Order: sequence, then C-alpha cells, then structure tokens
Amino acid sequence: MKTYLVTGGAGFIGSNYIRYMLDRYGDSIRIINVDALTYAGNLENLADIEKLPGYRFIRANITDRDAITAIFAEHDIDCVVHFAAESHVDRSIKNPEIFVQTNVLGTAVMLNAARAAWEDRDGTYAEGKRFLHVSTDEVYGSLEEDGGYFYETTPYAPHSPYSASKASSDMLVKAYVDTYHFPANITNCSNNYGPYQFPEKLIPLIINNALNGRKLPVYGDGKNVRDWLYVTDHAKAIDMVMEKGRPGETYNVGGHNEKQNIEIIHIILDVLREKLPGSDPRRAYINEDLITYVEDRKGHDRRYAIAPDKIKSEIGWEPETMFEEGIRKTIEWYFTHEDWMEHVTSGAYQNYYETMYGPA
Ligand code: NAD
Ligand code: DAU
Repeated sequence: MKTYLVTGGAGFIGSNYIRYMLDRYGDSIRIINVDALTYAGNLENLADIEKLPGYRFIRANITDRDAITAIFAEHDIDCVVHFAAESHVDRSIKNPEIFVQTNVLGTAVMLNAARAAWEDRDGTYAEGKRFLHVSTDEVYGSLEEDGGYFYETTPYAPHSPYSASKASSDMLVKAYVDTYHFPANITNCSNNYGPYQFPEKLIPLIINNALNGRKLPVYGDGKNVRDWLYVTDHAKAIDMVMEKGRPGETYNVGGHNEKQNIEIIHIILDVLREKLPGSDPRRAYINEDLITYVEDRKGHDRRYAIAPDKIKSEIGWEPETMFEEGIRKTIEWYFTHEDWMEHVTSGAYQNYYETMYGPA
C-alpha cells in the first residue's frame, strides 16, 4: 500500500488534493497530512475525511527538523507531495520573512528528511520513492499583454517576495536532483480556483464581498491577466505527474484560460445575480456599483499564461473543467457553505483543532 506524506493538506489545494486522492484510490492508499495550521490551514476543509481509515493528520511545522525527521522514522513514506507554503502575494509584500522561513527553509527541511530516509548507501533510491514539489507560474515573472507563454525552459524572473521564495525552493529541489540524483518533480501551476479557498484571494474575496454588499477592490486598472484552473484539475495533474512523470523533470500545469481581473469580477456578479432568487434582498445591492478601483499592488505582474504542452504530450494530462462550469460550481459551493465562510472570516475555524484533537 502506497503511503503519501502531504504537507499543507489543510489548505486550499492540499485539502482538495487529499479528497481527490481518497475518492479515487479509497482504502488502497494511506495519506498522512502534515500541517502547522497557520491562519490558512483549516481542518474543517477535511471534516468529511477525518474518520477515513486511510487518513491521518499530524500537526507539525515543516521548519521543525526533529518533528519532520520523526515522521519519516515512524512511517514508511513512499511519496511526498509538498504543498505547505505561505501562499499570498500581498502578505509577502507586507512581511517577507516568514515566506523565506516556510517556503525556503521548510522545503530544505523536507528535502533533507526525505533524502535521509530514502537514500541507500550506494546513493540510489528504491523504486517508487518520489518527492513532488508543488510550485507556481509566478517564478517565471510577468508576460507582455500581447503574447508569449511560460514554458518549462522560461528563465526564472520572480518579482514578489512570495515568488522569489518559491523560485528559491524550486532551485533547491533542482539542486537535490543534480547533486544527489534525488527522485523529485516540480509542477509550476497557474492560478487555482474552487471550493475551500481562503477569502484573501481574488475569487472568494469578490464572492464574499458581493454577497455582503461590500466594495469589490480592483488593483490598478483591473486589466492584469491570470490563467485560471479549477482546483480538481490541478489535483489530477499532481497525481498523474507522480505516477508518470520522469524523475527530475518539471511540468507546467495550466489550462489556456486567461482572463483579466475585471472580467472575472463581471462574471461573478452575473452568476450571482442569476443564482439569487428574485425575492432575495441581496439582489438590490449586487451590481457594478460595488466595483472600486484601488491602489495597485506593488510590483504587480501584468500577465501569466502557461503553456501546458509538455504535461499533455508526455503524461496525457489536460484540464477537464471549462471556466464557465467551474466558476458556477465554485459560486454554488460558497452559496451553500455560508457557515464555512462565516467560520473563516470570524476566525472560529481555528477552534476546530481543539474540538477534534484536544488542546494543541
Ligand atoms: P494555502 O495558503 O491555502 O495553504 C497553505 C497550507 O500550508 C495551510 O494549510 C497552512 O497551514 C500550511 N502551512 C503554512 N506554513 C506551514 C508550515 N511552516 N508548516 C506546515 N504547514 C504550513 O495555499 P494553497 O493556495 O493551497 O497553495 C498550496 C501550494 O500550491 C503552495 O505551495 C503554493 O505556492 C502552490 N500554488 C498555489 C496556487 C494557487 O493558485 N493557490 C497556484 C500554484 C501553486
Ligand atoms: O499564479 C499562481 C499564484 O496565484 C499562486 O502561486 C499564489 O499562491 C496565488 O495566491 C495566486 O497569486 P495571485 O497574486 O495571482 O492571486 P490573487 O488572488 O491574490 O490575485 C489575483 C489577481 O487579482 C492579481 O492580479 C491581483 C488582483 N487582485 C487581488 C485581490 C486579492 C485584485 O485586483 N483585488 C484584490 O482584492
């Protein structure tokens, strides 16, 4: 039975990945979710999974070498899927240091612990050992408005402290591959959207603000472009790279779905209006008057766009969820999980750990 160590599994993509994997493989795999439960880690995201026999949660910080080493000593880990990170660009502009600690040092600790557990005396690794580092298209910097794509060969040019820290962690993974023949892959993915995303990110923030009649803040001219991918498609890509990726290779993940931020906001407003019953009082204020242009993000990358040619031709992965379908599913989810949003915005979700596991 394959055992996966997933870091950051209580976050947005990590929790969707764990659900995807347990839905797909059931009892034939084991997943150990290692998460420090920062402001972004929410065990309520996995409430339906908590009792499954193949799932176990361990609260630990990836920068804590002893704790991570002990987990590798106690469990026979086959695969590591490394999501844990500080993930929000605006926070990195305000407080870069924690991004270096978690994203760079934390990745170094994970790599070191996995290598120590896996490397044989002759410098080889048993069949099936694999470390997948989940990274971002932001490491490639910014594209011109009128063309070009990010390929695996595009030189790194990060601009924000977040993307610089992710670029550094990618470089560490590449260094482990080159120096120790460490069996790793990197996936560089575009912007994800879907259920359980923390409402500091554009799509859930706009949905939540609109539903509550609050202003919809648009940075700069609103014409920055992001390449949106439904989160389950990302989960599937990670699974397929783990199964079929060539050791040491990088794969870009994206779905050719570029949209300007202002377009996203108009789409959300349209879908919300369509979904709200005629009698719902929120109809009175959910309209374009809420849109408010605010000061631009510092160092704001203009455009991201992934070329997913390699993952398609080598691995056979393609996105399955069209944006029109994915955004409707996402809005529907936030509509039917107002209690989740309430817990997240009030901070109440942070009590969930103690309810489940007792005092930390
Ligand atoms: P998130 O912020 O929702 O979740 C991060 C998780 O990591 C949380 O559960 C948090 O508690 C945990 N964590 C943070 N610091 C930790 C530490 N020191 N030790 C242990 N756990 C810690 O992030 P996300 O949006 O789900 O992103 C997950 C990964 O995917 C990140 O590595 C991010 O760079 C990458 N990524 C995200 C996107 C996106 O659009 N969100 C796109 C491409 C790549
Ligand atoms: O591209 C992948 C990256 O996507 C991931 O690596 C990051 O972890 C993830 O946070 C995301 O980064 P972005 O900075 O692109 O996402 P965010 O949702 O913060 O912003 C999306 C765009 O919307 C960006 O151009 C900034 C803009 N924006 C964002 C917010 C929060 C606004 O105009 N107003 C807002 O209030």
